[in-house]
Amino acid sequence: MRHEETEKNETNSELRTVGAGQQLTVQLANMAKLEPEPKRESAQGPIMTISSLNAFYRDQQVLKDVSLNIQENQVLGIMGPSGCGKTTLIRILNRMNDNVPGFRRTGSVTIQGQDIYAKEVDPVILKTRVGMVFQAPNPFPISIYENVAFGPKIHKLFRKKKELNRIVRDSLERAGLWEEVKDRLDTNALKLSGGQQQRLCIARALAVHPQILLMDEPASALDPGSTSKVEELIVDLRQNYTVVVVTHNMQQAARVANNVVFLYRGEVVEVGKAPDIFENPTSVLTEKYIRGNLI
Ligand SMILES: Nc1ncnc2c1ncn2[C@@H]1O[C@H](COP(=O)(O)OP(=O)(O)OP(=O)(O)O)[C@@H](O)[C@H]1O
Ligand SMILES: [Mg+2]
Repeated sequence: MRHEETEKNETNSELRTVGAGQQLTVQLANMAKLEPEPKRESAQGPIMTISSLNAFYRDQQVLKDVSLNIQENQVLGIMGPSGCGKTTLIRILNRMNDNVPGFRRTGSVTIQGQDIYAKEVDPVILKTRVGMVFQAPNPFPISIYENVAFGPKIHKLFRKKKELNRIVRDSLERAGLWEEVKDRLDTNALKLSGGQQQRLCIARALAVHPQILLMDEPASALDPGSTSKVEELIVDLRQNYTVVVVTHNMQQAARVANNVVFLYRGEVVEVGKAPDIFENPTSVLTEKYIRGNLI
């Protein structure tokens, strides 16, 4: 499907253009080392590039020619009506759809120039580089400590127990949960509130040092107080991480996202800086969606 509104401003074209020149040459093989990423002082261009991505469930095409640059150390908000392909898109970014029956994809996704679907890439290691937080909090039914320690143990990210303790503490601090749980790390994670469980899931994802964190409506199942905490956390995270967050909540996108992409029926309709998209959308479809007139 083609949309009539093709006029894009400079920012939009920059975001949509697949920029080979800025891609770094870090190999995915290096990702296997799982060294903590050095703290980055500023945004450094696209960390992930999606090119001509098409996705299908059997005969149904759900993503159509999606091309997008995801900028490093920024938050990209993904918006669009129910069923437009938001979840499918982010699941493709860490190969979570590989084993879904009937799923098929064409086009490429690269991290710093490396194709994440290349034969030599181990999807398990990729998932540590590109973490995922789901809509409903899904902590394991084990202790708070063991939830966060789970990934570091599997991937052998520490030598001594002391180092593991440090990883657990750092991750909980980054997720804004440490103060609330530091005296009960042995408690079963299912005893936490929904908002705390969601921050625990974020801590669990952070514990393996991802470069990119994918979040699929991370606050939609939470009460307003917990939602604010998760939003504040996303804003904090963008200093050190690249975040891709699916949300139906426009105020939330305006609060947390640097850039926003608007998807409609599997196609990118518009992408740009968050305030521009909300205040001055170039597409009639985006405008209708923002006004609540697009189903
Ligand atoms: N596992 C699956 N098997 C078959 N079809 C699927 C599967 N998952 C999603 N779909 C279909 O793909 C399309 C896009 O779904 P997707 O979940 O990506 O949309 P979404 O934008 O995340 O929607 P929502 O806002 O409701 O979460 C829908 O038509 C959906 O029915
Ligand atoms: Mg979804």
